Amino acid sequence: MTDKELIESAKEASKCSYSPYSKFKVGAALLCDDESLFTGCNVENASYSATCCAERTALFSAVAAGKCHFKKIAVAGSGDGTFAIITQPCGVCLQALSEFCSGDFQVVLTDRSGIRRMKLSEFLPYPFTKDELR
Ligand code: THU
Repeated sequence: MTDKELIESAKEASKCSYSPYSKFKVGAALLCDDESLFTGCNVENASYSATCCAERTALFSAVAAGKCHFKKIAVAGSGDGTFAIITQPCGVCLQALSEFCSGDFQVVLTDRSGIRRMKLSEFLPYPFTKDELR
C-alpha cells in the first residue's frame, strides 16, 4: 500500500468521526507488518477527558484483532473537510504507539502541499518503556 493510499484511508476513516464538541474530524490508518489495515476515528465524549483519538482507536482495534507488529500510520484531520493543515499525533497517542513500535516507525501526515513523513522518534524521542518499570 502506498503512503498516498494510506492517507486516503485515513481521510475516509475521518468520515465516521464522532466529534460534536471540537467539530474536528480525525482519521487514522494503521498498516500492519502483514499488510492488513486498521482504521480509526476520534470518538469524543461529553466529559471531554474520555475522548479517544483516531490513532488510538486504530491501534486498539488492531491489537484487539491480534495484531501487534506495525509498519506505519497515516493521520488526517480537518475542521473544514480540506485537510489543509497537518494533524500531529498527540503525546498520549505517541506513547501508546511506542508500546508496539520502534523509533523508526513511520508517521505519515498530510497538508495542502502533500505528504510529510516523520519517524516516531522525532515526535517522541524518550518514550516511557517497560525498562523504566524495573
Ligand atoms: N485528535 C485526534 O483524534 N488525533 C490527533 O492526533 C489530535 C487530536 C482529536 C481529539 C479530539 O477529538 C479532537 O481531535 C480535537 O482535539
